[in-house]
Amino acid sequence: MVEPKRIYLSPPHMSGKEQEYVEEAFASNWVAPLGPHVDGFEAELSSYLGTGGALALNSGTAAIHLALLLMDAGRGERVFCSALTFAATANPILYGGAEPIFIDSEPWSWNMSPGALERALSDTKREGQLPKAVIVVNLYGQSADLEPIIELCEGYGIPLIEDAAESFGATYKGGKSGSFGRFGVLSFNGNKIITTSGGGALVSDDLEALDRARYLSAQARQKAAHYEHTEAGYNYRLSNILAAVGRAQLEVIEERIEAKRRIFESYREAVGEIEGIAFMGEPDYGKSTRWLTALTVDPLRCKASRDQIIDTLEAENIEARPVWKPMQLQPLYAGSRYYEHEKDVSVSEKLFEQGLCLPSGSSLTEEEQERVITIVKHTLASG
Ligand SMILES: Cc1ncc(COP(=O)(O)O)c(C=O)c1O
Repeated sequence: MVEPKRIYLSPPHMSGKEQEYVEEAFASNWVAPLGPHVDGFEAELSSYLGTGGALALNSGTAAIHLALLLMDAGRGERVFCSALTFAATANPILYGGAEPIFIDSEPWSWNMSPGALERALSDTKREGQLPKAVIVVNLYGQSADLEPIIELCEGYGIPLIEDAAESFGATYKGGKSGSFGRFGVLSFNGNKIITTSGGGALVSDDLEALDRARYLSAQARQKAAHYEHTEAGYNYRLSNILAAVGRAQLEVIEERIEAKRRIFESYREAVGEIEGIAFMGEPDYGKSTRWLTALTVDPLRCKASRDQIIDTLEAENIEARPVWKPMQLQPLYAGSRYYEHEKDVSVSEKLFEQGLCLPSGSSLTEEEQERVITIVKHTLASG
């Protein structure tokens, strides 16, 4: 029997222009190290987001690491971080030997709980050691409720890093996701809404800080013919070839957002009314890209569990995944401090137990989505 074609969670979706731009880079021999596509990509990213500047890097993880270096978040220091995220957000805290403290989600946006953040800030202030930075994550295409978070951070004088790896293209109160913190972090990893196969960017209005990040990201070379070094640098820049891919991708960002939002709505129309199913909301402060369609499956009210749905889809060669395992539950971060949304209410842990991400690639066809929906409905009806 021929196996049905695999449906991935969020595969790369090329526009067709990428090869043309890459060929141009080859023709001009701007293959390495940097080049005009990198400059163009940076200018287009900052213009799209409305930030003072952008630094194109080889990953979003590198962007977080650089932001933390710029804030001197090194050994012995503390950094607050959204609990419900991919480990890439938190790992750079460990690179420099700082201590992560995890902040729970709120139920409506699934993102950082301002209440939990407030308690964490107040406690650490009392202890005489506030964090060097707060990293807020915008999950699955949706911005966190940034206003109260920014207010708290400003009140305590703590800089904010906005991890917009999953929310590029989303908005918050009229501004673009990624443009709100002292630094914004973007990812162009293969599964993101636009991709350079691998890549990322650090964005900011602080051009001096971006210049320092640029220097650190290119081996911290001092201006001298023989390359003078006074501190350790990193090899974090994006190549001109990959920036060419990124520029073609950026041209179609709005189409990609609309496609992902349509996919989300089709899922919601098909299964949103089933008892025990609840789709990730969209608070009225902004527009989500619906990078991944995420929903919860209540085991007490549904005939099938989240894991049964994932297993049944997998048996039909369809990739679906649980919501991120929160950092405080990861063995790597066992014993780390964690602030719940409310006393004895851990929102991120409940979302992890019940949360499901369905295939959401912007290239998903109606027929493919129908295949997914039929299986989900059938599993939910029969258990
Ligand atoms: C929330 C979040 N932060 C950071 C990253 C890291 O980005 P990259 O894979 O480009 O290093 C990712 C995804 O990979 C992510 O989902």
